[in-house]
Amino acid sequence: MAVYNETVMEHFMNPHNVGEIENADGKGTYGSPVCGDMMQITIKVDENEKITDAKFKTFGCGSAIASSSMATDMIIGMSVEEALELSNKKIVEELGGLPAAKIHCSVLAEHAIKSAIYDYAMKNGKEYAGLEGYDPNAEEDHHHDDIEEE
Ligand code: FES
Repeated sequence: MAVYNETVMEHFMNPHNVGEIENADGKGTYGSPVCGDMMQITIKVDENEKITDAKFKTFGCGSAIASSSMATDMIIGMSVEEALELSNKKIVEELGGLPAAKIHCSVLAEHAIKSAIYDYAMKNGKEYAGLEGYDPNAEEDHHHDDIEEE
């Protein structure tokens, strides 16, 4: 059985920033190509391009809940550009580690944040280096191709 550290357990049992922001400035959804689980992130961005609020909803496992709880905590107060640099590795580090088989769950959080920022950028005509070549729709479709039934 996978062993979770106290920080991960704490965020899983009492997750922060659960829900959906009404009239969000950016909303992104990402489906994991590994497990098929889904993550939605909504963000509020002020006129200085600073993230003032972030919330998540997920059909993901405990590690996905802990990762998004931590990741949303981390991006609140960051500029959009700083949030784009948040890798799943940094989220895992901040959680004090995840079992190897659960690393992909933290990728859900990273990608859903990117896709929420992408939505914000599209709506506001903004361009960010961190979004270059990013296509949220192409990535969401991956998991449909991965399922091979014989
Ligand atoms: Fe799917 Fe963790 S197993 S998000």
